[in-house]
Amino acid sequence: MNKYYLTTPIYYVNDRPHIGHAYTTVVADALARYHRLRHDTTYFVTGTDENSQKNVQAMEKAGENDLAAYLERMAIAWYDTWRELGISFDNFIRTTEARHLAGVARFWKAVQASGDIYEGTYEGLYCTGCEAFKTETELIGDKCPLHPNKDLEHIKEKNYFFRLSAYREELLKLYAKGNNFVMPESRRHEIHNYVEDHLADVSISREAKSVPVGISVPGDLDQRIYVWFDALLNYMTAVGYGTDEAQFSTFWPADLHLVGKDIIKFHCALWPAMIMSAAKNDPLLRNADGSAKIPKQVHAHGFFTMDGVKISKSLGNAVDPREFIPNYGFDAVRYFLLREIPFGEDGDFSRERLASRYASDLGNTFGNLVNRAIAMSKKYFDGKVPPADITESSLPVNEQSVWDGKGGLDAIKSAVESAYAGNRCDVVLASIWDGVGDTRRSGLFQANKLIEETQPFKLVKEDPEAVGEILYALLESLRWYAWLMHPVMPNISVKIFEQLGLDARAELSKGWVQGLKWGGLTPGAVLGDPSPLFPRPESEGV
Ligand code: MSP
Repeated sequence: MNKYYLTTPIYYVNDRPHIGHAYTTVVADALARYHRLRHDTTYFVTGTDENSQKNVQAMEKAGENDLAAYLERMAIAWYDTWRELGISFDNFIRTTEARHLAGVARFWKAVQASGDIYEGTYEGLYCTGCEAFKTETELIGDKCPLHPNKDLEHIKEKNYFFRLSAYREELLKLYAKGNNFVMPESRRHEIHNYVEDHLADVSISREAKSVPVGISVPGDLDQRIYVWFDALLNYMTAVGYGTDEAQFSTFWPADLHLVGKDIIKFHCALWPAMIMSAAKNDPLLRNADGSAKIPKQVHAHGFFTMDGVKISKSLGNAVDPREFIPNYGFDAVRYFLLREIPFGEDGDFSRERLASRYASDLGNTFGNLVNRAIAMSKKYFDGKVPPADITESSLPVNEQSVWDGKGGLDAIKSAVESAYAGNRCDVVLASIWDGVGDTRRSGLFQANKLIEETQPFKLVKEDPEAVGEILYALLESLRWYAWLMHPVMPNISVKIFEQLGLDARAELSKGWVQGLKWGGLTPGAVLGDPSPLFPRPESEGV
């Protein structure tokens, strides 16, 4: 059995989740659900990044002064939003938890024992928005381009440094093309160039007197660990590093870290170098051949923008994903986020696009298909799955069109599987909608086209047997689509199974490989009741 461990970034709690955060989290959830359907031992972690100055500033702005209470309230808000969006995380980690602190201390000591931590003085500009030091070349004017409305802090203080530059060669090897460590390719180039030309040692602590929060450096209470050094470690502490060696050994290394494009330097350079260093002194972090257990892949996505500007808490254009759930249901919101922009690229968020995709892709193209196929079968075949030769893999209907039922669905299934394997949920959905089919594409089973070209409602009088075959193939294709889209739209998928007269739980427990075999519907079995999957939204406004 394979294991599959994937993560989202952990989110700052200086505000509530917006559409951009929901995007990463929904992609991760779809991939986790896909792997569970494949019966992989899947573990999906998300959580909150709590030792950040940004959180303290937000608390003060809200007029509060109890940091622990603020962090807890906000962590719950994130947790609840994810649950409302159907996010099926296995573990939600907060970096103020004791289990995290235990792992951070263990890791720090391992890096220290490798001789990679030294004392020095840092002088430079710090952006609390990014929680990072900035060099002159990274600024536009005297501002951070990602946080133009925040002033940078000038800092000069004693810090601990991490010997990041010592890992340059090892990192460059890690970025070799075939490794797929950094995805997509454009980001691999970006990080490769950065490490080749600019990699320098980094400060990994701050003076306790100048930052209000942070985990203390083991053995030096005057220093706090730099928030990114602590935050990255959540990926390990969430699966037991420092508290549960057996669990850690089961899941580590992570198979996938999903991140936004703004945080790839931390994930693709600092993080693997930290592990390479600690591995020298911590056997839990080493493979049998002595190499470090580095995560398998970091896949970076682009930004949701609003009129071309990144959606962001600090820019004040945040959109709360929960706003759309009453009108469209969470499946449709998930569909929209994943379908709207090619994974890896930026794209604009618009309420009009959401409304139009809901009405056209979901309602007209897919919802109507489900309704028509089930209603016709019920009408012509006494409420039952029509009789058909289910061992038959092709479906010759007339001379102009030969609809290869099984072969045509297999082609869609293969496209969907390779898209899931490449974390491309946008391509998953595009491939399914190719199969639903409004535009003729050769080699695919296309449900809407099949109805249009064979007109079963007319053909039924002269050739009921052929109509039985056609409708069987249509219903069976719906069962396949329900499987293929389940990771993205779990509730809709369950409704489709139910309308097809299946017990959804029993169906899903077959697993992906058994479930996606031609002939899953039994001719003569009683169909469920059709009802609109995507009803008209109650309010036209959103
Ligand atoms: N706390 C750090 C991550 C630490 S991971 C060890 C952080 N938090 S964040 O809350 O600012 O951002 C979390 C993620 O949300 C990042 O991957 C970021 O790219 C993503 N997004 C924030 N705004 C976004 C959009 N407008 N669109 C898409 N994703 C965006 O960084």
